[in-house]
Amino acid sequence: MPGASGAFCFEREADLFMLDETLMLSSGDDDIARAGEILKNGGLVAIPTETVYGLAANALDGTAVRAIFEAKGRPQDNPLIVHISSLDQIDGLVSRFPETARALADAFWPGPMTLVLPKSAIIPDEVTCGLDTVGIRFPKSECARRIIDAAGVPLAAPSANTSGKPSPTCAAHVFDDMFGRIDAIVDGGECSVGVESTVVYAADDGDPILLRPGGISAEMIAGVCGSCKIDENITSDMEATGAVMSPGMKHKHYSPNAKITLIESDFDAYKDYVEKNMAPGTAALCFDGEGQRLCGIPYFEYGAVDDPKSQCRKVFSMLRRLDKAGVDAVYARCPRRDGEHLAVYNRLIRAAAFRKIKL
Ligand code: TXA
Ligand code: MG
Repeated sequence: MPGASGAFCFEREADLFMLDETLMLSSGDDDIARAGEILKNGGLVAIPTETVYGLAANALDGTAVRAIFEAKGRPQDNPLIVHISSLDQIDGLVSRFPETARALADAFWPGPMTLVLPKSAIIPDEVTCGLDTVGIRFPKSECARRIIDAAGVPLAAPSANTSGKPSPTCAAHVFDDMFGRIDAIVDGGECSVGVESTVVYAADDGDPILLRPGGISAEMIAGVCGSCKIDENITSDMEATGAVMSPGMKHKHYSPNAKITLIESDFDAYKDYVEKNMAPGTAALCFDGEGQRLCGIPYFEYGAVDDPKSQCRKVFSMLRRLDKAGVDAVYARCPRRDGEHLAVYNRLIRAAAFRKIKL
């Protein structure tokens, strides 16, 4: 019957894109070895790191790297970070390792920092999207490093979320976004930092430039190098347009379905504003212990008011949670911008599509 065979063909096409299943792996030795095999053979594996979960493939295999872009629905002009498991692996991947970059590596690697460096010819264009620099990261997570060792190759890995959604900080988040689209997920528990790595441009002999704030702050970088420039797209409350140093800055990011508005004020003014503007489907996103002081308003809390580390750990899972709860609109307490607070501010102002009210 022509109709039936047409339908069958359609299903077959869908099958080619949707894998039958995604293997759920533990961080035990056998499972890590299995993850390594899959990666060696050109597959995609979501891996835990101390920042967020990454969606990894062999960084030296352009075809495997292209599959990352497909699985995430990632814009083709947003380059990937290459992960290594020991410092000596960097030699083949970069054409130069400037002094400033070396000093930063000494101070902060292994850890939540990506260095943008001049790339060597071995890095495929699929990784860098045609740029002449490459982001290199040496993660602190032991599980991530064991997987890189098992694969025997450097791993290209963006965050393991559907493009535009909040980054995943536990295996369940990856499962929600990627099940059926990738070969395996290694469950290594919750990420200890919770926001993506600090990205630093250190490809020449000039001052380092902060391209994306993370667990390592501009102040910490300046402490090592004497100074640290901050890319204007981090602090401007405008969506980046035109040429940007870090292509990721211009894309829609971290956006939950709910419409978020940041409220910059002290708690009393925030409470007053939220209580006056409350409507069905609206919720508050506030700091720990504040929710119960709001009168009968549904709330989500994202860490302690003066503790940026706890805010980093919670912010993405709260953004995912408020979507699961079906919230339409959110009034969020605005984080500070100094030190590690800037990482949280940067994620939330983008999640809010730059909507901010100052009271
Ligand atoms: O913590 C992290 O960095 C996580 C984990 C998995 O390591 N990875 C991650 O990757 O957040 P991704 O792809 O979501 O973010 C990488 C950021 C993007 O904003 C991208 O534009 C920027 O780094 N980037 C990568 N290569 C670059 C380059 N050569 N020059 C400038 N920016 C670059
Ligand atoms: Mg990302």
